[in-house]
Amino acid sequence: MARAAVLHAVGDKTLDLRDDITPIDPGPDDVRVRIRATGVCHSDLSVMTGVLPATLPAVLGHEGAGEVVAVGDRVTGIRPGDHVVINWTPNCGVCGYCDSGRPYLCTVFVGRAFRDAKFRQGDADPGVYAMAGCGTFAEEITVPRLGVIKIADDVPFEYAALLGCGLPTGLGAVFNTAALRPGATVAVVGAGGVGLSVIQGARIAGASTILAVDPNTAKHPTALDFGATHTATLDDLADVKAELAPRGFDHVFEVVGRAAAIETAYGLAGRGGEVIVVGVAPGSEKVTLNPFQLVFDGKTVKGSLYGECDLVRDVPRFVNLWRAGRLDIERLITRRIRFEELNDAIATLERGEAIRQVVLF
Ligand code: APR
Ligand code: ZN
Ligand code: ZN
Repeated sequence: MARAAVLHAVGDKTLDLRDDITPIDPGPDDVRVRIRATGVCHSDLSVMTGVLPATLPAVLGHEGAGEVVAVGDRVTGIRPGDHVVINWTPNCGVCGYCDSGRPYLCTVFVGRAFRDAKFRQGDADPGVYAMAGCGTFAEEITVPRLGVIKIADDVPFEYAALLGCGLPTGLGAVFNTAALRPGATVAVVGAGGVGLSVIQGARIAGASTILAVDPNTAKHPTALDFGATHTATLDDLADVKAELAPRGFDHVFEVVGRAAAIETAYGLAGRGGEVIVVGVAPGSEKVTLNPFQLVFDGKTVKGSLYGECDLVRDVPRFVNLWRAGRLDIERLITRRIRFEELNDAIATLERGEAIRQVVLF
């Protein structure tokens, strides 16, 4: 039996830190992974508050990396001892979405994530589910072979973990969804952990102007560190826009997860500009957009799920950027913690005081 952090009910403020949770035995197409590092992501909090759905009780966590300890009979290309990043959207490879180059929309494994219990609690065997089918706030997990991406042994586990969610979500929004060209003008609404990855991606892609918008001015220096060229709060935003991009920005990323922030982003997008929605807002909120501008300014509003990444293709690319010294992962990690400190990390995240906190097992 092993340690794992379980959410029993939506609205619970803390996770139940247990030491009697066992992953299910791997089936023929599964692998069992000893988790070595897992990041605390905003989406974990969103499951606790009910913004993101999950079947409960569940082990939370979806941004993880570790070492393979066992593989099923039919598994190829992965062996015990391999280091892997957990992919929370495994893609089947053969459905219409996978077949049309949009593997991030594949729903084959999403359904199973809600249906199948991935852990057992104690000896009595009551099923415990796994957030997004992974549940990386656990020492050991069982996931489909397609839910792991092999990664070079010299990439630290704590960096590999971030390559499972925050980094691909942010970088992918820039490289895949926006397909950003050098010289483009960019505004990023929300400079949290994911927003900083968008900012960093825009810098790497050669954006000429990168405006970081965040009401919390404590986030501004970090945004500048990661490549923002300017910062604004919501109060001085109109003035800053008038000075920097009077006709609006080419690409505006919403990385907050609130309808109001999507509206702010829409107002910043220029003629022919696009709003890329990365944040996950509650489905109960409504967004109000000026429909006239949508057509006569030729604006686009588009959601970007998981940075529209194909992790098999994109993880090695991101690792190459890191090796070349162009992608800074180290400074995204503001705190390394033990499993016992997980609830404190969630409270810190909720207060908006962390970029990425990583649990090391
Ligand atoms: N406009 C701009 N920024 C805002 C606003 C707003 N109206 N409201 C809050 N913010 C800022 C916060 O000050 C914070 O810096 O947005 C940032 C959000 O950062 P985090 O809480 O660190 O969240 P993060 O992990 O970056 O995730 C953001 O992306 O992937 C999704 O589920 C995730 O919806 C979440 C979003
Ligand atoms: Zn598919
Ligand atoms: Zn995440």
